[in-house]
Amino acid sequence: MNIILGITGGIAAYKTPELVRRLRERGADVQIVMTASAREFVTETALQAVSGQPIRDNLWDKAAEASMSHIELARWADAVLIAPATAEVMARLASGAAGDLLTTLVLATQSPVAIAPAMNHVMWNNPAVQANRALLEERGIAILGPDSGSQACGETGAGRMLEPDELAATVTGPGFADGQPAGVLTGKTVLITAGPTREPIDPVRYMTNRSSGKMGYALATAALRAGARVMLVSGPVDLPPPRGVEVHDVLSADDMYRKTHELVAEADVFIAAAAVADYRPVSVADKKIKKSGERMTIEMVRTEDILASVAALPEAPFTVGFAAETDRLNEYAIDKLERKQLDMIVANCVRDGKAFDADENAVEVFWPGGGQAFPLAAKTSLATDLVDLISSRYEAARGTGTEPRLSVVSIKD
Ligand code: CTP
Repeated sequence: MNIILGITGGIAAYKTPELVRRLRERGADVQIVMTASAREFVTETALQAVSGQPIRDNLWDKAAEASMSHIELARWADAVLIAPATAEVMARLASGAAGDLLTTLVLATQSPVAIAPAMNHVMWNNPAVQANRALLEERGIAILGPDSGSQACGETGAGRMLEPDELAATVTGPGFADGQPAGVLTGKTVLITAGPTREPIDPVRYMTNRSSGKMGYALATAALRAGARVMLVSGPVDLPPPRGVEVHDVLSADDMYRKTHELVAEADVFIAAAAVADYRPVSVADKKIKKSGERMTIEMVRTEDILASVAALPEAPFTVGFAAETDRLNEYAIDKLERKQLDMIVANCVRDGKAFDADENAVEVFWPGGGQAFPLAAKTSLATDLVDLISSRYEAARGTGTEPRLSVVSIKD
């Protein structure tokens, strides 16, 4: 796959040598095109070393144009990715300007174009930038991100460039270079639960757990990129709603159960990534509980198992559960797969706080008759791989109908 990587002058340009490496690892040939201001943030020497190609930066470079003109370069590309994309380049693209090599290439290519905006969050939210974003999107340019979090300027908000690995996965992923939003889940609806639940004790207190929701949100984004319609039933998390995903916010396990069952009839695939409380207080005090003796006891009752209840539906979607275990990972995960009659289970080790709130995860996946291990990787790229696996298992289970619902599962301890 031939990719033109356009680099413009934002601080996130310092991440582009890493981005080039991630693209090349995924088999892409990368031709870098830098703007003049990108040189303030990253050197040509570093980029040339990682891409293995001389950098292009000038529409009037006679030697470069003689070996491959900008029109030939535009034809050569299977995809164009601009990362980071500044407010300035977005404005120029929106206006159809062609004053430099990069903007000229975008006008001259017939291949898909994606941009990864990166800028201060106040700039990103500026109506002019948002109007340009909407216009570019309307014209078919894919807008990847931005992400939310702490920014180079010391502030926090939406405007961070997506991580190199996620950008590389998207641009080299299924369907992107064919210009189809189509992916392995096109035409399918995926319902995902994510995050923790909050079980109220009284008006000021609740019980919860350490789930960040990152895995469920990453799966939602990956399923969307794979072409699915995605509905996300989310417990309280500190993550921005992924654009294009239908997010339904809930608090308690009961709320999550109700919302999931309200939506499940529309789903072809259900992924239970939420860390749902297994118990909730039997009753919720309507006034703040005042402290009294040295001890207190809260009586708890089991919550409904959302995952098992979906798997037991007569017309159950392809159902994927998660198992977070501190020990005997495979044994417990396979037990859950069988007990809850799941199509697939994703098991992760949470010993020593591993997996919770982390950006990376390693998992073992099991299904009736098989399994696959996924080594430690960014949750975003793991999510893409899991969505690929889910879609191929979904096809195998639903497509031919010949797969047994349960058989011997290999255990890989
Ligand atoms: N789950 C659910 N509803 C619940 C509890 C769990 O949908 N009330 C789902 C989770 O989203 C996850 C899987 O079930 O996909 C976890 O299974 P569970 O048996 O609840 O595991 P744990 O509570 O982690 O472990 P254990 O049963 O061993 O206590």
